[in-house]
Amino acid sequence: MATLLHLDSSPLESSISRELTREFVKTWKAKHTDGTVIVRDLAAHPAKPLDAQSIGAIYTPAAGRTPEQKAALAFSDELIGELKKADEYVIGVAMHNFSIPSVLKLWIDQVVRSGETFSYGEGGAQGLLQGKKATVLIASGGVYEAGTPAAGFNHIEPYLRTILGFIGLTDVKFVTAGGVAQIMTGAVDREAFLKPTLEQVRSQAA
Ligand SMILES: Cc1cc2nc3c(=O)[nH]c(=O)nc-3n(C[C@H](O)[C@H](O)[C@H](O)COP(=O)(O)O)c2cc1C
Repeated sequence: MATLLHLDSSPLESSISRELTREFVKTWKAKHTDGTVIVRDLAAHPAKPLDAQSIGAIYTPAAGRTPEQKAALAFSDELIGELKKADEYVIGVAMHNFSIPSVLKLWIDQVVRSGETFSYGEGGAQGLLQGKKATVLIASGGVYEAGTPAAGFNHIEPYLRTILGFIGLTDVKFVTAGGVAQIMTGAVDREAFLKPTLEQVRSQAA
């Protein structure tokens, strides 16, 4: 039975990236009628920033951790458990200041853990989440397509490719609704604007 992990990071109810992830999940469910979807709303329930206690716990070998250190890692363990359980991930990303929302970075800081999602061996670092697939659905006010002058300002795709690759995810697809500022200014109709992107989303999920 297939499992999908559904992550959202936009704080907005009218969010475009949430509309894209909803469409992805709808299509995915129609294909995997007996599949399970784990929902993780990172904006509604953000992870805490790493602090001295949790970093100390991470650096302490599991067998020697105190009850307090185990408690400090409990949420991280839960999030990593979801990543391991799911076969596939869909991640909704709102572009904030040319990068990912801070709540998504907080989640990343909780799940990228030595011995859990990556390890160091003779050949250097190795990602431990093997055989998984991720689809990243981005909404941005501006347009950052390859070849355009602003392309270098898009730090979402290069960063997520690097960090997801670091934990073993090499099958990562990106779909972007770029230029949503045009909806906000009333220059274009939301439904018409999103139609081609929603088609791309459906074809990724099918
Ligand atoms: C705090 C904040 C920062 C933003 N920064 C950028 C930016 O750097 N570049 C951009 O193109 N759009 C930026 N935007 C516009 C958003 O990317 C756009 O509204 C997008 O639809 C957000 O995704 P969402 O609709 O899923 O929330 C920003 C919006 C907010 C609220």
